[in-house]
Amino acid sequence: MSGLRTVILASLCSATFAQYIVSNDSSISRILGPRLTSNARIILPGDVDFSSSSERWQEYAKPTFKAIVEVTTESDISETIIYANERSIPFLAVANGHGTVHSLGGFQHGIGIRLHKMNKIQFTEDGTHVTIGGGASNGDVLQALKAANKQTSTGVCECTGFVGPALGGGHGLLEGHYGMMVDNIIDALVVLANGSVVTVSNEVNNELFWALRGAGHNFGIIPSIRYKVHTPEALDWNYTIFMFSGNKLEQVYETMNDIVVGRQQNLTKMINYAVWMRNPELDPVNPVILFGILYPTSDSHGPALTASFHDFGPLSVQSGQISYWDLPELTGNGKNSAICQRGMVHMKFPIYLDKYNTTALRSAYNEFNLATSQVPAFKDTILLFEAYSLSNVPDTIWTNTAFPWRNARALVTPVITYQPDKRLDDTAIQFGASIRQLLYQGSNSHELRAYVNYAFGDERPEQLYGNEPWRLTRLHRAKEQYDPNNRFRWYAPIIR
Ligand SMILES: Cc1cc2nc3c(=O)[nH]c(=O)nc-3n(C[C@H](O)[C@H](O)[C@H](O)COP(=O)(O)OP(=O)(O)OC[C@H]3O[C@@H](n4cnc5c(N)ncnc54)[C@H](O)[C@@H]3O)c2cc1C
Ligand SMILES: *[C@@H]1O[C@H](CO)[C@@H](O)[C@H](O)[C@H]1NC(C)=O
Ligand SMILES: *[C@@H]1O[C@H](CO)[C@@H](O)[C@H](O)[C@H]1NC(C)=O
Ligand SMILES: *[C@@H]1O[C@H](CO)[C@@H](O)[C@H](O)[C@H]1NC(C)=O
Ligand SMILES: *[C@@H]1O[C@H](CO)[C@@H](O)[C@H](O)[C@H]1NC(C)=O
Ligand SMILES: *[C@@H]1O[C@H](CO)[C@@H](O)[C@H](O)[C@H]1NC(C)=O
Repeated sequence: MSGLRTVILASLCSATFAQYIVSNDSSISRILGPRLTSNARIILPGDVDFSSSSERWQEYAKPTFKAIVEVTTESDISETIIYANERSIPFLAVANGHGTVHSLGGFQHGIGIRLHKMNKIQFTEDGTHVTIGGGASNGDVLQALKAANKQTSTGVCECTGFVGPALGGGHGLLEGHYGMMVDNIIDALVVLANGSVVTVSNEVNNELFWALRGAGHNFGIIPSIRYKVHTPEALDWNYTIFMFSGNKLEQVYETMNDIVVGRQQNLTKMINYAVWMRNPELDPVNPVILFGILYPTSDSHGPALTASFHDFGPLSVQSGQISYWDLPELTGNGKNSAICQRGMVHMKFPIYLDKYNTTALRSAYNEFNLATSQVPAFKDTILLFEAYSLSNVPDTIWTNTAFPWRNARALVTPVITYQPDKRLDDTAIQFGASIRQLLYQGSNSHELRAYVNYAFGDERPEQLYGNEPWRLTRLHRAKEQYDPNNRFRWYAPIIR
């Protein structure tokens, strides 16, 4: 009898003790600290670099941390997850902190598993692939590729992570040469929700490998991936950057439609970026259209396709030839560029389109004009247009992955930008959602298609992960097997 009492008391005690541990943050150092390797570090609120370590690119709905563990090996990741599981504390992978989806705001006072020290990039001797650490930045990878005289699919912006963008598909300048980022992953190490470390590839854990490439945030933490690299095919590029006033919208986008649709005939490797923005020097009243065309110098169709835009009377034109490696800087994506600055609100409302409906674009322009003139705080807001080349992409470089929107031709994203001010949040959401709705109404599509890496967070899983029913079924099955307790539910969750 007294033996049983002791057991009950002991378990009551340990429950109390566990609560005590949860409420006392410095105990994480005492208990988890000894389980970590010697270069790992636990950063707590009050430590000098705690706030810089938890800084985000997106101020709206940002995750908050009770502790940040700077991991250096997969066993550090594993031990941190096990520690967090023992105490039912949420945990979140943090690479370069550019995740924007508002579900991240549901992550409060959890443990950040910060990967930035796991940024090693190592090429194989035969030069066919590279191992990339889960915390390497896109800029780190670009620099290493340049030094090794290789090319592959990467993100465009130097300041984001590398693995993070790849988990959602990964768009970039060389998509028309090597496929999306997901298409270049050979295999990956994954630390699962229970702390176990597995390899995923077409040969082992292949369902998880499939799911990771498109819905990857839902399944594990990745210490490193092995990735394909290629002999450079596009080192010299030509660019032309036009500024147009808003009244040229119809001409410009009708012409772009011819090119976008022309890609079906394998015409060109041309890439188009456009940004609608306010620029009072060029036009004090209405937003202007920055319209950039890039193509590899070897693309013989480039000059003719660019020529027609000169006829529409641009406000300015800037053109030239540039090294591939300087394109991030040219396109405003270099690591010191304005886009890389942290601390602002950036709400994104992405939509994929097959072609531009200029009636719908005109409505979106009017809405953009109205909101950015009525709310001066939104003056830095932009509408971003990205059309990557799909031409001459043989089906064989498109691997079988969970990324659902393979044939989408253009990605359009209102990015509502302002200094943090909670009073403006509802207006900003209304504004972004209404622009996206106008574009959707003009699209003739029966489902909104959104890019998970830009998701606002109000999209349904079908709109991020694909509307063929088998897709979500297959993802749910992988979830049941690899993360039955839904520990990975903070970034655009499949299961809410
Ligand atoms: C300025 C800017 C430029 C961008 N440019 C591009 C672009 O060119 N192409 C493109 O496709 N996307 C682009 N994006 C979107 C980008 O893909 C996402 O914002 C991405 O989530 C950023 O990853 P991160 O490591 O910087 O951010 P984090 O906030 O650190 O990571 C985002 C999420 O990814 C997951 N994650 C990150 N690393 C790991 C890992 N090693 N293991 C497991 N999970 C991990 C976590 O769930 C985390 O919450 C851009 C975004 C911004 C803000
Ligand atoms: C937390 O635990 C540490 C070490 O166990 C102890 O020194 C400290 O006083 C505790 N802090 C609080 C706020 O209880
Ligand atoms: C590329 O740009 C250079 C410099 O402006 C120019 O001389 C050349 O003709 C251009 N080539 C193509 C293919 O557009
Ligand atoms: C485009 O090019 C790819 C690869 O060269 C080829 O497989 C495809 O059939 C071509 N498409 C058309 C419409 O010509
Ligand atoms: C273009 O969008 C408008 C709504 O803005 C819609 O009425 C029209 O049907 C669309 N046109 C096409 C060709 O889809
Ligand atoms: C962790 O989860 C995986 C996948 O569900 C499973 O195969 C493995 O046995 C689990 N490991 C432990 C230690 O429970």
